[in-house]
Amino acid sequence: MEAMEQRERMEWLQIDSLDLEARGVGRSENGKVVFVSNALPGERIQASILRSKRNWESGTAVAWDNASSSRVTPKCSHFGVCGGCSMQHVDPAAQLAFKQRILEDDFWHLSRLRPQTLLRPIAGPSWGYRTRARLTVRLVIKKGGVLVGFHEKGSSYVADMRSCAILPQKVSELLLPLRALIASLSHPERAPQIELAMGDSVIALVLRHLEPLTESDRQLLRDFGVKHHVQWWLQSKGPDSVVLLDGEAEQLRYALPEFGITMPFRPTDFTQVNPQINRVMVARALRLLKAQATDRVIDWFCGLGNFTLPIATQARKVLGVEGSATLVARALDNALQNDLQDKVMFAARNLFEMNAADLRAYGEADLWLVDPPRDGALALCKALVAAVGGTLSSSADGSQTAELASGDHGGAHVPFTPPRRIVYVSCNPATLARDAGLLVHHGGYILRAAGVMNMFPHTAHVESMAVFERE
Ligand SMILES: C[S@@+](CC[C@H](N)C(=O)[O-])C[C@H]1O[C@@H](n2cnc3c(N)ncnc32)[C@H](O)[C@@H]1O
Repeated sequence: MEAMEQRERMEWLQIDSLDLEARGVGRSENGKVVFVSNALPGERIQASILRSKRNWESGTAVAWDNASSSRVTPKCSHFGVCGGCSMQHVDPAAQLAFKQRILEDDFWHLSRLRPQTLLRPIAGPSWGYRTRARLTVRLVIKKGGVLVGFHEKGSSYVADMRSCAILPQKVSELLLPLRALIASLSHPERAPQIELAMGDSVIALVLRHLEPLTESDRQLLRDFGVKHHVQWWLQSKGPDSVVLLDGEAEQLRYALPEFGITMPFRPTDFTQVNPQINRVMVARALRLLKAQATDRVIDWFCGLGNFTLPIATQARKVLGVEGSATLVARALDNALQNDLQDKVMFAARNLFEMNAADLRAYGEADLWLVDPPRDGALALCKALVAAVGGTLSSSADGSQTAELASGDHGGAHVPFTPPRRIVYVSCNPATLARDAGLLVHHGGYILRAAGVMNMFPHTAHVESMAVFERE
């Protein structure tokens, strides 16, 4: 078992870098690495060391000898306690530089790659950007009633939030009224969560309730909805149980005006958290993809068609593939609503289980758009490498030794023309870098360009995009 000191200790440290959670990293007198909240590179700080393990320690900064030029005053009074943000003390431009450094470091350290070109970082509004959020609801008698908000940092407690600067102002202003509303329900202790989903003109709230609601509960929700202009949805069990409180309401939707597209969605569907960045991101992805009117394109992990439909306005045909059958049905509906049904096809499939034969079954494509969840697109990249006859048993740098799935010999004797260009959108630079290693060292691609997008300002979350082209 690792030794753990229980007593708090104070120590002055020099901070050299930031870790992936935006904590300052320094070294203590005893030689251990120390991760310090609210400390920035270049600062000499006094840390209160709260945890001590065999090889590392962690704590929080309590005094500063000098302040970094990137340091700013956090806007939100809950910063430091609330787990929603970790970088409000860093200037937004420096946040982007930090995220870009992570991306470049991951490419280099995980796959010995450097993009030929660094794309200009994409930034949007720093505040009020978050149109999706999962708010925890908890009855805490000691705090005087119901709390609604994000978890406290590193804890399962709910932060005592009265406002939130990353939520749109009209949603932030609902936090206190929501406390009162839940407290007035017949079982406030049995309503553990409220999910927010905003469209361009509608705020939808999904109330998770573990007990059936009474008619008076429903009326309270209805009255709240009218007063605050929100649409209530109810969730009594899993995601499939989500229904509107009252049979009909205005459809949630977001627009991609540059492409003349409107995307209807349901509150539990995956949509990008930051609509302003999403618009710029889709436009940039399409510019980098450079689809021609003759091209067949595959959009892997297509969701409700966020990239598929814009691509369909430029290419000959687009196939969207996605794991959720519900999202595939929504994508098809959205294609119909946007009169793009003749340009698109969709398929539901688990893309974490793919081999070269599966890939061939979807047919060759001139271009790929890949937008996976945090785990990345390893199976897909391996399948592509196998289909083009690449070998995965040895690598240029020795770090990637992925094996082909058993029985997946890639059918290398049957010619397969790989996509000439791949635009990969990622919410996890480590899995992007890993997959990039496969595509470049084993698949015959060049990492042409890459860059970051500040999809989640004030969090350490890194969203990025990379472009691969055949050599
Ligand atoms: C980052 S989202 C991108 C969605 C879409 N491209 C967009 O911009 O809205 C990742 C998508 O991958 C899907 N997904 C997650 N795991 C999957 C899997 N194993 N196989 C296929 N799709 C999966 C999710 O349902 C989600 O729609």
